[in-house]
Amino acid sequence: MRTMPKPRPMEGRCPHRPLQDIASSQNDFQLVRPPSLGLPAPHRVAAPARVSSYPMRLQDKVIIVTGGTSGIGEAIAGRAVAEGARVLVHGIERADGEAVVARLGARAALHLDDLLDPASPERIVAAALRAFGRIDGLVNNAAIVARDTLATARLDFFERMMAVNLRAPLFLIQAAFPHLKATQGSVVNIGSINAYSGQPSLLAYSLSKGGLQTLTRNLANAHCTDQVRFNHLNVGWVLTTREYHHQIEHGMPPDWPDKVPTVFAPSGRLIRPEEVAAATIYWLGDESRPISGSVVELEQYSLFGRNPDKQ
Ligand SMILES: NC(=O)c1ccc[n+]([C@@H]2O[C@H](COP(=O)([O-])OP(=O)(O)OC[C@H]3O[C@@H](n4cnc5c(N)ncnc54)[C@H](O)[C@@H]3O)[C@@H](O)[C@H]2O)c1
Repeated sequence: MRTMPKPRPMEGRCPHRPLQDIASSQNDFQLVRPPSLGLPAPHRVAAPARVSSYPMRLQDKVIIVTGGTSGIGEAIAGRAVAEGARVLVHGIERADGEAVVARLGARAALHLDDLLDPASPERIVAAALRAFGRIDGLVNNAAIVARDTLATARLDFFERMMAVNLRAPLFLIQAAFPHLKATQGSVVNIGSINAYSGQPSLLAYSLSKGGLQTLTRNLANAHCTDQVRFNHLNVGWVLTTREYHHQIEHGMPPDWPDKVPTVFAPSGRLIRPEEVAAATIYWLGDESRPISGSVVELEQYSLFGRNPDKQ
């Protein structure tokens, strides 16, 4: 997510390739509506495919995905089900949530809860146990994404941002911890490249993601002998439905995803939710065991030390 400069013609942009529907040729394909469906046609992607010769990477694991009713969280929930997991899809919008679990089928259950409520973490964990009887993974994905600066910072805005983006992940982990310990489980926190400093117009958001990153690393050290792992993805600019509309609300034209400067999207397009989901599966699954405390940047360029040529 970025504050965009005014669009200008792109240089060196990859030609846009229409995406093929890889679903139709796969027998064991989990038919999941891609979270990009609310986007203009060129930016919609096919649902994730499975190739039958591959083992299920999350077979029979129970995963909680917060904010799983839209965007990146929806993609993670869909991919987790496709990899054999049972998923508690947490969200706050009933219609979206019911549509997501209807698409995912019997291996998904919906729990609606407002993370602004300090009691919500206990309820979310209880809902996962009620639905599936165990917890193997927790993805702290839900977040408020909104702008403020030093000049516009307000106490209630700051407190809401911290409550959802930082307090809720901490207390969700606390509530789930005994169950994660029992299953040698894995926590994946969905962060942002804004954690390291952040956009000027994303002051509170950047602070919340910086805190989330420290939470990941602190707990990874504190609990390294408990066999519960904590890893973290600092995500770059992803074209979710929310991000599409967020940019339009801030003055960008409807076709702004086609005009993203290569300095932000060297490949010629933004990252897709499904690509973040694919990375998340690795950190949730046993194939990444025993690694813990990792913070991984999911960007299209080197985040550190980057110094683009001046024109
Ligand atoms: N899209 C990007 O460019 C981008 C970049 C970096 C990081 N991220 C991170 O990815 C994650 C998902 O973002 P997204 O782009 O998919 O947007 P999104 O708005 O689709 O997802 C955020 C989710 O959080 C939920 N949420 C917000 N407030 C809540 C509350 N009070 N209680 C319960 N749920 C609440 C929303 O309902 C939504 O489902 C976030 O953590 C975001 O910070 C996104």
